[in-house]
Amino acid sequence: MTDTLTITDNRTGKQYEVPIQDGAIRATDLRKIKTSGDDFGLMTYDPAYQNTAACRSRITYIDGDKGVLLYRGYPIEQLAEQSTFLETAYLILFGELPGAAALESWVREITVHTMLHENVKKLMEGFQYDAHPMGIMLSIVGALSTIYPEAKRVQDDEIRQRQIRRLIAKVPSIAAYAYRHNTGRPYIYPDNSLSFTGNFLNMLFKMTEVQYRPHPILERALDVLFILHADHEQNCSTSVMRGIGSSQADPYSSLAGAAAALYGPLHGGANEAVLRMLKEIGSIAHVPEFIKRVKGGDGRLMGFGHRVYKSYDPRARIIKQTADQVFGVTGRNPLLDIALELERIALEDDYFVTRKLYPNVDFYSGLIYQAMGFPNEMFPVLFAIPRTAGWLAQWEEMLLDPDQKIARPRQIYTGAAPRDYVPREKRQQP
Ligand code: CMC
Repeated sequence: MTDTLTITDNRTGKQYEVPIQDGAIRATDLRKIKTSGDDFGLMTYDPAYQNTAACRSRITYIDGDKGVLLYRGYPIEQLAEQSTFLETAYLILFGELPGAAALESWVREITVHTMLHENVKKLMEGFQYDAHPMGIMLSIVGALSTIYPEAKRVQDDEIRQRQIRRLIAKVPSIAAYAYRHNTGRPYIYPDNSLSFTGNFLNMLFKMTEVQYRPHPILERALDVLFILHADHEQNCSTSVMRGIGSSQADPYSSLAGAAAALYGPLHGGANEAVLRMLKEIGSIAHVPEFIKRVKGGDGRLMGFGHRVYKSYDPRARIIKQTADQVFGVTGRNPLLDIALELERIALEDDYFVTRKLYPNVDFYSGLIYQAMGFPNEMFPVLFAIPRTAGWLAQWEEMLLDPDQKIARPRQIYTGAAPRDYVPREKRQQP
């Protein structure tokens, strides 16, 4: 027997049985609730999708109350400890951890796609010397659709798989070019003898040495950060990826849109905002005053709070440990003390406790990136690189899901009633 929800319409006295499946009712089932034949039927009003499941997904599970994050059923803590970013990307995309041979060929397939078309250099030259690297990255990703026009054939599995590999491989190269452009340094070609993150560090930081050798602790720390950021189910940018992809746009265009959504300070731009906030606070002595301001409604404590997590973000816990390892190599980031004091005070304060505001993934990640030598503007880009795997997995899942159609929400119209056009000379308006 299926569970049902019985709804009584007080206007008509009629009763409706609506099936409940997986803890949800189908919003379209409410359409049968009408007062007359020409009534469109009952809609749900859910600005910002706060209580709407827009898809079924097998990729990522979050329990926001318990602070649990699983990729394909595997706890994030175990992946961060034992996996690599590329292996995790494979898991996210294909559903299972790869065997040794599958992993080897996956890593090889990504590695051979790290090079960018030489035209990309010309595109880069069009940007101002101080252009934000996230703006550069999302523009170049979108431009790749013109270099790989076959990508439009999104229903062709072989073509889709090729673009997935290209994007995972090329986004770090684009990110590195954007950084080198900002710093006025020559672009560095990929070194395919290095790991995914080792090569990324090479493309960012290589100077005149014959071969760049990444510090193993920093290389691993970045890999762990990439694992933590690889997917996070239906957040703002992922919904954009699915939304654009639902019109069957090519994955480069969809991913450019997703990256644009990630750019905002309430999403992937938050780690950059955290650093600006910590600098503005300046010293531990100013922390209580800052907290008072936030509680008074003047700004937010960046890096705190989450739509889904109503407890400590499990990623933030792992990042805190990673920070210790990184600071062991780079020296302690002086802003860490301000962050620790903010966290201490906020976790004891009624305002934050009652609203269940805890540190999220962005609270500590910026401190690590800064200690590793990344400028603030690179932080959202460092989020976009690993999230590329999640976006692509979600995009492909959407394309293959027979339940999905072009995304097209409804609205409640609150504008003017029908009225006649008023000739310009007869209008009341100035
Ligand atoms: N500092 C101070 N107050 C806050 C904060 C914060 N960081 N976050 C939420 N609140 C308050 C908010 O003012 C509201 O209070 P009241 O009920 O009195 O009006 C209450 O908590 C609920 O907030 P909300 O804005 O309705 O919550 P939301 O689910 O819409 O927003 C959020 C989630 C992440 C956008 C928000 O917590 C925020 O702006 N945080 C700071 C930015 C940030 O760190 N973003 C990174 C998110 S994690 C990475 C990612 O997935 O992108």
